[in-house]
Amino acid sequence: MNIAANPAIEADQTIYLKDYQKPSYIVDSIELNIQVYVDHTLVSSTLVIQRQSEGDLVLLGRDLELQSISVNGQQLSESEYKLDSEQLVIANAPDHATIQTVVRIHPESNTQLEGLYQASSDLFVTQNEPEGFRKITFYPDRPDILSVFTTRVEADKKFPVLLANGNLIETGEAGEGRHYAIWQDPTKKPSYLFACVIGDLAVMKDRYTTSEGRDVALEIYAEEKDIPKCKIAMEALKHSMRWDEEHYGRAYDLDNYMIVATSAFNMGAMENKGLNIFNTSCVLADEEYTTDAAIMRVQSVIAHEYFHNWTGNRITCRDWFQLCLKEGLTVFRDQSFSEDLQSSAVQRIDDVAVLKAHQFPEDSGPLSHPPRPDHFVEINNFYTATVYEKGAEINRMMATLLGKEKFRQGTDEYFRRHDGEAVTVEDWVDALSAGSGVDLSNFLTWYNQPGTPKLEVKSEYDVESQTYCLTFKQSLKPHPKYPNLKAVPIPVALALFDAETGEQLTLKSTALVANGVKDGVYLFDQDEATIEFSGVTSKPVVSLLRNFSAPVNLEFDYTDKELAFLLQYETNGFNQWQATQTLLERILLNDQPAEIYINAMLNTLPDLIQKDPLLASRLFDVPTEGYLGSRIDENYQPSKIKEKRNALLNKLAYAFGNTVKEIYLSLDPELQSDFSQAMGVRALKNIMLMMLARQGDETAFELAQEQYSSTGNMSERLGALRVLVWNDALQAQAVLEDFYTRFKNEALSLDQWFMVQAAHPEATAATIKALTEHPDYDLKVPNRIRAVSGGLSNNPVNTWSFGVQHYISLAKYLDEKNPIVGSRLLQVLSRWYTLAEPQRGEVKAQLEALKPLVKSKNVCETLNSMLSV
Ligand code: BES
Ligand code: ZN
Repeated sequence: MNIAANPAIEADQTIYLKDYQKPSYIVDSIELNIQVYVDHTLVSSTLVIQRQSEGDLVLLGRDLELQSISVNGQQLSESEYKLDSEQLVIANAPDHATIQTVVRIHPESNTQLEGLYQASSDLFVTQNEPEGFRKITFYPDRPDILSVFTTRVEADKKFPVLLANGNLIETGEAGEGRHYAIWQDPTKKPSYLFACVIGDLAVMKDRYTTSEGRDVALEIYAEEKDIPKCKIAMEALKHSMRWDEEHYGRAYDLDNYMIVATSAFNMGAMENKGLNIFNTSCVLADEEYTTDAAIMRVQSVIAHEYFHNWTGNRITCRDWFQLCLKEGLTVFRDQSFSEDLQSSAVQRIDDVAVLKAHQFPEDSGPLSHPPRPDHFVEINNFYTATVYEKGAEINRMMATLLGKEKFRQGTDEYFRRHDGEAVTVEDWVDALSAGSGVDLSNFLTWYNQPGTPKLEVKSEYDVESQTYCLTFKQSLKPHPKYPNLKAVPIPVALALFDAETGEQLTLKSTALVANGVKDGVYLFDQDEATIEFSGVTSKPVVSLLRNFSAPVNLEFDYTDKELAFLLQYETNGFNQWQATQTLLERILLNDQPAEIYINAMLNTLPDLIQKDPLLASRLFDVPTEGYLGSRIDENYQPSKIKEKRNALLNKLAYAFGNTVKEIYLSLDPELQSDFSQAMGVRALKNIMLMMLARQGDETAFELAQEQYSSTGNMSERLGALRVLVWNDALQAQAVLEDFYTRFKNEALSLDQWFMVQAAHPEATAATIKALTEHPDYDLKVPNRIRAVSGGLSNNPVNTWSFGVQHYISLAKYLDEKNPIVGSRLLQVLSRWYTLAEPQRGEVKAQLEALKPLVKSKNVCETLNSMLSV
């Protein structure tokens, strides 16, 4: 790797897990006074500190204008402390002291959306995870310092809403048309969970009584016009509170729970104690303005942030290397919650699809890292699919292995041991082992090394002895930074089916883990092993890795016929879906004929559509071009993949023939009794409409036009719009204009309008240019940038041609304005090295040319890693 030219690496700003040291001082309490003015904000803070071990007092601070500092009431002169762009250090501070500082900050010009920032003309909010608090005041801004926060917020009365964490203890006049509020949070917390909000917002209120009898006031703050769109989120919140009581024995611990929605937010949402701050995209949910997928996402994000109250807030991370401790566990919890909300099979399908589409590619490329990294330059770059999704899978594997009861005993022990502490991944696995009585320590290997294991399985049936043997072998691609890769424990959920009757066989094998779970689970934890099933009277069909019991790449030489068999006879919807995906990958990547897949679909689907429309809609999933591309490690030609995928979709559409239209006309979401089945019907209708258009049936566009204008539901409207726009129908322009007129004041709906156009399969550089020059395109709003950039990345052919310049110039622009988002967008290009020449060389040259132009740690680190292949 050529590192000399890079400022971030030159100064070696790499931080290592092995260098962790306990803080020299702890903070018993902090009082903040935040006074917001039009062109600046004053922040006064009073810290009561106590020495805990040797060392200087280090207060971290970034972009702060220091006005004054005193220790125990004595003003310090400049010679009494050392101040640089990152920290303020006081040597020989007393063992007990009160430190007071006053700083000036500029939230009104903060474009990075980190720390305190002005989100819109009438709203100021904070985002402090992971290291934003140091942009508000000088503080030992690290997660292992837990303190009691008291916050006074003062602003002009044109901002009637003044919020901070905890309980409201006082409000009053502050003169000159100003007012204040004082909040106190009784629970000790790290600084990254601090939040305050100053704004002009409306509120939806509700109440919830916990299992412990606590009466909690629930409040969701949003713009007046959006309040009706907060209902689904409010219901999801109450549901989550009940769910955590029932499934983990965890009740809420404060008298209020507030959620604030803002359209200017880098991420989805943030779990600040008692005062969550959400991207509007993760709170507002309404059939008329948002899609079904968005509605599902809102519910899971609400649950996710609520669940952090115990897994993240009450028990937090010792340092940021442990991020997956809170995120992996909380994602596993929100996935389980969502499995109870809709069909669990479909929820699992959707979660595995995300894992495979984002985490697997990440783990096979230059940005690959362990779920618990051991070094980083910029921690913001490690809020990744690996930390989140693979982190969740590790917890799921342990939960699968333990079964419900023992897993609960394990989590109970975790809360009993560590409530109020900042802990590590080891602490979690230890508690889980101790509570359940099952030693899980070898799962730490999953946390500590990168890469997706390959799991090769071979089968052998012996008629004579009526035995069936499975031989397992695991391996990992060598990784330059991790030479000592070890075997990991892989729970393999499996079933055998009678090849003639399709019936599931009762498993007879001593190798299976008996833990009360329904499926047989074999724990494979060596490099190689064989297990034997007895009493198998004829050659069975095996179903492996049911419910995706481990995040591995399975290689088993199924015959196509066996896969078609599984699509038809597997009893779990997830496993049926998995069979379709395996078949499709073979067809699309290994040039196998499509007939078996198409026939299996024709056999299975018509019935299933009536029985379970939601699952049926997922069985039509064809791996995206992006996913298929990510399975290719060299000589990748995006246009070849596009061609093949298109050909298959056409074949499928023609094979379904007249039934496409029949199915379309027979489906009515209004007739469904529950939301998820209605959602399935809507998804299917849109799929059928797309297939009909592929058949070249002229009525497709009329039906789409009709669906577009007669519905009040966004999934239906958008589905119809997509068919018209993507097929360049005559009606396309008019419906686009209609959509714009209807929704121009609804930012989230307008995002969809941008997205549909950017994702047009034949979008050109001019299409993207027109969108980014549209008056409603706004580089200050990450959601809008993501709408266009995300739409564009739907088309790898475009991503890797004119898209390269798009992402590079965005990264360059955002490097200064919003490096967190800039760094993430650049990652779209991380698999550049797999491209066939000459494209590979061209993209590489463009990335190299970006290097000297960027300065942020975020973008520099990402670019360096990307180029280090
Ligand atoms: N703690 C994170 C929010 C966060 C992310 C803070 C990155 C700082 C940097 C929050 O709990 C979270 O994980 N949010 C996710 C959504 C969630 C459902 C996985 C997000 O924002 O994407
Ligand atoms: Zn989270």
